Amino acid sequence: MTVENLPNVGLGTWLLTDFNELKHAIQAAWETGYQHIDTAQVYNNEYDIGVILKDLAIDRSELFLTTKIAPMNYKKHTKTSVHQSLQRLGTDYLDLVLLHAELNKTLNLSAYQALLELQKEGIIRHVGVSNFSIAGIQDLVEATGVKPYCNQIVCSPTTRSAELEAFCLSEGILLTGYSILKPYFTPNPFYPDSALTDAEKAKLDTLCKKYDVGIGQLLNKWALQHHYHIIPKSSNPKRVKENYQLDFDIAASDMSIIDEMNRYSAAEYREDVKKWENNVTEEQLENGLLYEQHFK
Ligand SMILES: NC(=O)c1ccc[n+]([C@@H]2O[C@H](COP(=O)([O-])OP(=O)(O)OC[C@H]3O[C@@H](n4cnc5c(N)ncnc54)[C@H](OP(=O)(O)O)[C@@H]3O)[C@@H](O)[C@H]2O)c1
Repeated sequence: MTVENLPNVGLGTWLLTDFNELKHAIQAAWETGYQHIDTAQVYNNEYDIGVILKDLAIDRSELFLTTKIAPMNYKKHTKTSVHQSLQRLGTDYLDLVLLHAELNKTLNLSAYQALLELQKEGIIRHVGVSNFSIAGIQDLVEATGVKPYCNQIVCSPTTRSAELEAFCLSEGILLTGYSILKPYFTPNPFYPDSALTDAEKAKLDTLCKKYDVGIGQLLNKWALQHHYHIIPKSSNPKRVKENYQLDFDIAASDMSIIDEMNRYSAAEYREDVKKWENNVTEEQLENGLLYEQHFK
């Protein structure tokens, strides 16, 4: 069946750059029923995903494919980079293209307008953003009159931006949560204070026992119950399958136990947003992130 809207559960692919690992993950996802794959120009795996989709003979109309514009491509190369992504992914349209991160107002708008033009041409079905603040979204809407389809943002028990979440939901902008599981395993390098303490992990382990589920299922379900779409990543086919088995409900009192672990403020979120801009140089904006030959 054709997938027109963002599915609730998709496969994340950040750091999945080993061809065989990626292939096994996509195969397991497809066999399980996933219909969404999330990638990005900076993940450097679009070409491999294209090859794998062809190898597995996955019907394009049954897949929702998301990619993200590298911030280096905002100034001059947005459209060229989308055409390169299409070629790498072996497709003639993308279901969703996101601005990967918020930069300054002028750069954001330049890239957003380019995507809206490609949407008019039928190359992109939905245009969205990622890591955008409330102000960043408001600027885009004020200038173009078009709300982004979704905002893909960090969401874990320790890093939930409640103010931004409420804004997006009230504006009808879909939320996609990323790095939901990370703080349970390794400190997320982008959010150094996000690691869960042993006491917090023990509380989550108790909830896993209560619902007879794994940690992936518990936290992914928690995010879904907060109205997020989710894109868990796993290189392990068993865990890819497990992340889709979410047919249980977390009671409100247990949701609160997880919610209380949040230590991420709206001010911190705004500071994090600024870091993205500081990481892109003028030279990178001039040259863009365009891959040579073979697109790898
Ligand atoms: N827009 C952005 O700026 C942005 C930033 C970060 C991520 N993302 C997207 O969001 C996706 C998900 O985020 P993420 O990659 O940071 O990580 P994640 O989904 O939070 O997963 C973190 C780690 O948990 C492990 N894991 C997954 N399922 C598990 C399970 N059921 N049980 C135990 N362990 C499990 C995985 O390791 P194994 O591989 O060993 O299973 C994985 O490396 C990314 O892949 C990417 O597509 C977007």
